[in-house]
Amino acid sequence: MTVENSARTLLRVSGLRKTYRTGKTEVVAVDGLSFSLQAGGALGIVGESGSGKTTTARMLIGLERPDAGQILVQGEPLAPTVRGRAARLARAKAVQIVFQDPYLSLDARITIGATIDGTLRLHGLADPATRAARMRELLAQVGLGEREAAALPRELSGGQRQRAAIARALAVEPAVLVLDEAVSALDVSVQAQVLNLLSDIRRDTGIGLVFVSHDLAVVRYVCDEALVLYRGRTMEHRPVAELLSDPGHPYTQLLLASVPRPDWDPDSISRRRRELDPPAAEGAG
Ligand SMILES: Nc1ncnc2c1ncn2[C@@H]1O[C@H](COP(=O)(O)OP(=O)(O)OP(=O)(O)O)[C@@H](O)[C@H]1O
Ligand SMILES: [Mg+2]
Repeated sequence: MTVENSARTLLRVSGLRKTYRTGKTEVVAVDGLSFSLQAGGALGIVGESGSGKTTTARMLIGLERPDAGQILVQGEPLAPTVRGRAARLARAKAVQIVFQDPYLSLDARITIGATIDGTLRLHGLADPATRAARMRELLAQVGLGEREAAALPRELSGGQRQRAAIARALAVEPAVLVLDEAVSALDVSVQAQVLNLLSDIRRDTGIGLVFVSHDLAVVRYVCDEALVLYRGRTMEHRPVAELLSDPGHPYTQLLLASVPRPDWDPDSISRRRRELDPPAAEGAG
């Protein structure tokens, strides 16, 4: 690999593994996960509920420590702990996440505008007038205005809150943005608006996106390549167009068949899904 290439590699993940122990049972949430993300790249992570998507997202931002494997962010290992203000800011600048539940990234006690203002201040925008202008610009990008800026998180609709959380993450201007089902709850027109915004920002700034979703249509719209997780393991990792037109693994075929459409047959999908599981599921005895 050339030096130039390595400088443009935002994320390099190798051999990630994470197990959880609940009582006597152990769940391998993520196993042997490897991928890399270039500047301006967008990787989709798809899989059914419980396949390890959120666990992966949490490891990428250091909220969860892997049992094995390595995460390099812009060539530097993701430190297991961050101490001190400078290190915390540097990590925030490297990777931001927007969760499915926007309450996790918004402060319930202060207005959306104040939250974004605080983020901008933390990341070095000293001039209040410049911050106010930037705050309005960020909110406008996600389709929010003065009223939403003055509102507390609980005074907004779910979709408005989700867009506010996206604006807050973008305020940091991170190298990598991880979205964990972050647009799933939005209605189609707002979803399209946010997806367009992400594409624009990606093109203009070279931000890297890790896009976690169960919705293949959305993944197709945003991502160049996608990785299919099944029980924590990577079934395939290929360009999205290829994955959709020629799914290689039975699980991917099933994932595609699970998208509701006129000739949709939920019963046959449930049966095919059960057939994929090993006869005695791990953790069952
Ligand atoms: N804190 C935890 N303690 C114990 N087990 C956990 C914990 N977090 C996740 N798990 C388990 O790890 C597996 C992967 O969970 P994860 O949340 O990553 O799935 P997911 O793909 O994000 O699912 P969903 O689409 O439902 O959000 C699941 O079996 C889950 O029960
Ligand atoms: Mg999840």
